Amino acid sequence: MFEGKTILTGVKPTGTPHLGNYLGAIKPAIALGQEAIAHGGQHYMFIADYHAINAEKDPEVLAQKLKEIACIYLAGGLDPSKSVFYRQSDIPEIPEITTILYAYTPKGFMNKAHAYKAAVDKNRAAGKPDDDGINMGLYTYPTLMAADILAYDTDIVPVGKDQVQHVEIARDIAGAINAHYNQPLLHLPEYHIDENVAVVPGIDGRKMSKSYGNVIPLFEDDKAIKKAIFSIKTDSRPMEEPKDPKGILVYEIYKSIATPAQLQEMADGLRQGKLGYGHIKNMLLDAVINEVKEAREKYNYYMAHFDEVEEMLAQGAQKARPVAQATLQRLKSAVFGNHRGGGAIS
Ligand code: ADP
Ligand code: TRP
Repeated sequence: MFEGKTILTGVKPTGTPHLGNYLGAIKPAIALGQEAIAHGGQHYMFIADYHAINAEKDPEVLAQKLKEIACIYLAGGLDPSKSVFYRQSDIPEIPEITTILYAYTPKGFMNKAHAYKAAVDKNRAAGKPDDDGINMGLYTYPTLMAADILAYDTDIVPVGKDQVQHVEIARDIAGAINAHYNQPLLHLPEYHIDENVAVVPGIDGRKMSKSYGNVIPLFEDDKAIKKAIFSIKTDSRPMEEPKDPKGILVYEIYKSIATPAQLQEMADGLRQGKLGYGHIKNMLLDAVINEVKEAREKYNYYMAHFDEVEEMLAQGAQKARPVAQATLQRLKSAVFGNHRGGGAIS
């Protein structure tokens, strides 16, 4: 499916990832990249720190979040000798490409982009002026994202549903530029939604989300993970009462992590009245710890040796830049005329 394809994954360094992010986004992204590489394709994986500054202004917090997210991807199995692993702000061609894309981005696209629309809706609900607190970074977010994608001739962008619109905008801008200059300057990307990745419920039954404060932490110690798991909502039915596993929250969370045999064991035990809530919480705890143990060790190692990670990111930028430079040069030649030859690129 990804034969010879270029896959690009971007992640914003905001929030501390939880188990839901790990199982629902981080692990699948790494796996997809590895699949592409195994089939002669390429995988670009970057940290979108320019996107993060729209909302986060504290350099200490930004640095900490970047560090965490970089270490989490490495801990999850990203291999920087195979994937191109870099930081957005290390590629100065990206904002340059963005500037050219602006000239082909209808303002109406930005008005309709959902991150901006959501911010306006929030202001209206609070009785504030529409654009209160909204900066140009947020407003033009999709164009910067289009540059991220188009710079590397990306074929496929794996995304959650909320990002589909952004990939479509990138496609539209690229199409407009190619049409205007009547040449294939930019490669049209496609989005990919992994339908097999289920939403992991949080400890209160809603979607696990940092905004709901209902998360199972990822790389904290066993005690913190246990605390979260033992506060998962249950009812007061006694152990002996046969229960339909469906709808039992511990079981629903277990689904996203257990093997089919483990899941069957929990289902049978519940149906037969042989497993109580304490038992099944311990089963879930074991599964979570088993899932994260090895990765947590790697994570702690990289957090403590971040200079090694910095080196990986620097090497990744060295691999990514020439590709972005070639795209920029192609664009500049078309935009300013061939006699200019794309200008001097260091
Ligand atoms: P949060 O809801 O905690 O703020 P984000 O919206 O930042 O999480 O999501 C980051 C990534 O993690 C997205 O790709 C999203 O689809 C995925 N994700 C978030 N929560 C879950 C969940 N509960 N189950 C599966 N995937 C999730
Ligand atoms: N907008 C994405 C998010 O909020 C992050 C991102 C920035 C991205 N540039 C990208 C994702 C390019 C994929 C491709 O999650």
